Amino acid sequence: MSEPKALIQPDRGQDATLIHLVNKEGFEAFAKGLTAGQRASLAAQKFEGGGYQFAIIPDGDSWFVASGVANPESLSSWCLAKLAEELPEGTYRLVGAEPGAAMFGWITGQYRFNRYKSEDKAQGPRILLTTQVAQIAAATAEAEAECLLRDLVNAPAEDMGPAALEAECERLAKAHKAELTVVRGDALEQGYPMVHAVGRAAARHHAPRLMHLTWGDPKHPVLAVVGKGVCFDSGGLDIKPSSGMRLMKKDMGGAAHAIALAGLIMGARMKVRLHLLIPAVENAISGASFRPGDVLRSRKGLTIEIHNTDAEGRLILGDALTRASEENPDLIVDFATLTGAARVALGPDLPAMMARRDETAEAFLAAGKASDDAAWQLPLPEAYREYLASDVADMANASQNPFAGASVAGLFLDRFVGEGLDWVHFDTFAWNPAPRPGRSRGGRGLGLRAAWHAIRARYGA
Ligand code: BES
Ligand code: ZN
Ligand code: ZN
Repeated sequence: MSEPKALIQPDRGQDATLIHLVNKEGFEAFAKGLTAGQRASLAAQKFEGGGYQFAIIPDGDSWFVASGVANPESLSSWCLAKLAEELPEGTYRLVGAEPGAAMFGWITGQYRFNRYKSEDKAQGPRILLTTQVAQIAAATAEAEAECLLRDLVNAPAEDMGPAALEAECERLAKAHKAELTVVRGDALEQGYPMVHAVGRAAARHHAPRLMHLTWGDPKHPVLAVVGKGVCFDSGGLDIKPSSGMRLMKKDMGGAAHAIALAGLIMGARMKVRLHLLIPAVENAISGASFRPGDVLRSRKGLTIEIHNTDAEGRLILGDALTRASEENPDLIVDFATLTGAARVALGPDLPAMMARRDETAEAFLAAGKASDDAAWQLPLPEAYREYLASDVADMANASQNPFAGASVAGLFLDRFVGEGLDWVHFDTFAWNPAPRPGRSRGGRGLGLRAAWHAIRARYGA
């Protein structure tokens, strides 16, 4: 897996290959300062200063780099990511500029999921020097959190089951001296009955569980972070078609976001009392599966009629959100790969965000924009609550109509969030279907930095 730690280093005048940042407007002036031979090499490489273009320019016995960026004065997260992916191993320095936000893409551009590659032909590290020494730690921490998230999502379900998610929470707890309690298997029947019902059909070594990590001074405001940990979503008895099942190892992407975010919060020693709640299950098929038509009793006491066993994430989150609410938190943030409807509405790059309070929604949206991790808000319309009405129980787990699926799922969750509490819900994809600079195909954070920057602004670091 990845070792992003040393990819950004303080500039102490080390030997380094220079990177000149150029945009289309500045290209001519840049080319004028070069020799005829160097200009010829630019032309041969079709370099004109466009975004993600770069060229290697010979210079005596050595060479330097010209990198096309939109605005050399202010780099975004992905501006240098392609360089980080493609330049030869070595140490680099920007000329007359600082990497700033592009440090994130420099590191994530070098991410590879090589856990299962017998022979990894990856090149060695490309190191970027910067004088923004104070920013290195924060940028590296964010990129490390992203790489961890990707590793968790990319791991196949057999190796990233509920037990592996527990091990990940344990590692996190050890690293930050947090407390971890885990309720496993049949013990869930008491406190987390919906987690038990969804997870009980899985093989014994994938038994369901609820991880509850706590950290920080109890006098600080309580921040609850919750993540959907469906380690594989077959759909249950309402089985998915094979095309819909193929990527469902990533259905624990919400848990991966929550774990990564919790690591950032604790690493920054934020002044919060953190509660991380991860319900982890496999939505499997066996004689023990919960069924369409079953009625589940939730931790909250509400009874839930099952219309569709594939709407399982909201069930396990319901119990976890109930538990989170019992701490009377200042804020609850949850992440879940909850609905296909959110993807139909927003595609793979924009997480859907729902929130109870407008000020909180605005803060999260603004933080997302500012950190190149934009989210889009969807509503929680009162009028659609009736879509979840049930003839036999207090509520159904799925609507019988095709409308507003992401909002309806949000409204389901809303029933389990304590009255009056401040709550933000991310319906995320956690996956990148097409590789782009800094974002390899596979697991990907979507909403992680939006939430992290919003939380950091709210509580201070
Ligand atoms: N994990 C899926 C949602 C999902 C599917 C996310 C594809 C990303 C890509 C979730 O458990 C699910 O199956 N939801 C159903 C709900 C429906 C049965 C009400 C859905 O979205 O179809
Ligand atoms: Zn499902
Ligand atoms: Zn699911």
